[in-house]
Amino acid sequence: MGKKSWRRAALAAAAALLLSAQYGCGAFGDTVPEEAGESDAHTYIQGGEELIIVGFSQIGSESIWRTANTSSVQRALTEEKGYFLISDNARQKQENQIKAIRSYISQRVDYIVFAPVTESGWDTVLKEAQDAGIPVILMDRKADVDESLYTTRIGTDLTKEGEKAARWLEGDLKEKNRLYDDINIVILQGTLGSSSELERTAGFESIASRYGNWHILDRQTGDFTTAKGKEVMTQFLQMYPDIDVVVSQNDDMTFGAIEAIEEAGMTTGIDGDITIISFDAVRGALELVQAGKINVDIECNPEQGEYVDMVIQMLERGEPVEKLYMVEERVFTHRNVARYLEGRTY
Ligand code: AHR
Repeated sequence: MGKKSWRRAALAAAAALLLSAQYGCGAFGDTVPEEAGESDAHTYIQGGEELIIVGFSQIGSESIWRTANTSSVQRALTEEKGYFLISDNARQKQENQIKAIRSYISQRVDYIVFAPVTESGWDTVLKEAQDAGIPVILMDRKADVDESLYTTRIGTDLTKEGEKAARWLEGDLKEKNRLYDDINIVILQGTLGSSSELERTAGFESIASRYGNWHILDRQTGDFTTAKGKEVMTQFLQMYPDIDVVVSQNDDMTFGAIEAIEEAGMTTGIDGDITIISFDAVRGALELVQAGKINVDIECNPEQGEYVDMVIQMLERGEPVEKLYMVEERVFTHRNVARYLEGRTY
């Protein structure tokens, strides 16, 4: 067995054992069967000798979008395609991501793929990866670090998503002849300090600030979850009796917000009391767009796994890669949603 093959076999053994020890406390566990024990791990290694080892640090499982994003990576980096994927679920905690990345460095994986929960705080650990010569691929959100500390980023244009939301509102108010009426807006923000929250907020507000009659009454975090979205929306409704528009930075929070609004005896959407602007465009939300309960859904595309595979294959062939790859995204309203609903798998 060659040196690299031996290292990969040893690493695969360590990873498989680590995963089986971690069930229920962080690992996704799709790379080895749930009941896998030491002997299963050994069998698994036999076939996996020459695989490319990828350490994947995912943020958590806070949203339907996140689950789709995780599954996109798992579908793209399979053993059949030549990968051994080690996954870790950080449960929305930066310290867990740093711990996972350090463990990937000490295991000397071939590549690290990670979706940073927040923008800041990554310099030290990414420098450690660089010193170990391990290419880092950022996925989904941004990390506020020197560009030399990562190989590439695959993600979405989060500022543009926020701008699209404001542009849609402009158009909607214009159609209703309300562009210069007083409009009361509340924002349900995602995880504070995440690039999805920071940039969607900045994108929306850069356009909102041009209208003196758009009043942003409040912005608070619902942490990208349905439960927190409902809780914050309930508070908003108690504090502000005259909300016209809710900008909810993901569909999971939107589901909670709609529940809160309906429980308060109001309606949402096209013919409703409160206009709903949402982000992500998961199937359940697109159904609500079709039903007229959500006015617009700004897509954030979770299908990023194929790009990760493409970048790794290019790097394996020694080809140069771009610093940034953006996935394609749309805007869905009742006018176009039917066309896309059928094909939506998540
Ligand atoms: O970073 C992408 C965001 O994170 C998605 O909008 C949200 O649903 C997820 O949790």
